Amino acid sequence: MVAALEGRAGGFALEIVPECDSTSSRLLETLPPDDGRIHVLAADRQTAGRGRRGRMWQSWPGAGLTFSALWRFAPSSLVPAGLSLVVGLAVARTLEDLGVEGVQLKWPNDVLIHGKKIAGILVELNSGRGRAPAAVIGIGINLNLPTGATVDYATGVTDLASCLAAPPGPNRLLAQVLVQLQTLLDVYAVAGFGALRGAWLQRNAFADLPVRIVGEALELAGTCAGVDEDGALLLLTSAGMQRVLSGEVSLRLA
Ligand code: BTN
Repeated sequence: MVAALEGRAGGFALEIVPECDSTSSRLLETLPPDDGRIHVLAADRQTAGRGRRGRMWQSWPGAGLTFSALWRFAPSSLVPAGLSLVVGLAVARTLEDLGVEGVQLKWPNDVLIHGKKIAGILVELNSGRGRAPAAVIGIGINLNLPTGATVDYATGVTDLASCLAAPPGPNRLLAQVLVQLQTLLDVYAVAGFGALRGAWLQRNAFADLPVRIVGEALELAGTCAGVDEDGALLLLTSAGMQRVLSGEVSLRLA
């Protein structure tokens, strides 16, 4: 594990537990000290894994890698714009380095393989309480889903075992994602999402396609025109270009 961190082990405080409710809930609650390291909690199994928009993130023994990382960002940025897209890019690059083909990103931060979801990301901000503002980055990657696992995603789901003849084990994969994440967060901290936008756009699953965005209060239809420097989705609608800050994207079939 430490070897796979490629000499960067000192940059992380790492804990792996057999079971917890949710690695993100644990980090948000305990809020580890600000010692300059990225604090990481991984669990073999979560009993109450959380997904975006109030959904659950299910886990089966050995079926996935589930972990969260606490990252502290500059107090000057109120909201770390585009952070969740950067995390998606880190997961995408890790999978590509392993030889996975057809890796795509679905705004804001799902990772797809040939259109099917392989990883989900949940970024939550801590209120600060007098400390440096922090983001808890929760990542779930499907490794080997049990046959017949029912996961309610419009895209359908896939796992690493279906993509690679010899997939890495969870610890090795964790180390590889952490190396990518740290590399991209270093760029992001200095230059913002704008410096990584091109790399994100190259993998945009819905580039130039007709999509529907379902948000809390509204539904929008248009053509996906990429993302801007803040990571907002650009949607070309009949009323012109619109910036979308949150919502769920789905392909709008003709
Ligand atoms: C989504 O696609 O809806 C986001 C899923 C995020 C799941 C991960 S698993 C590790 C971390 N702990 C959680 O409870 N959720 C995130």
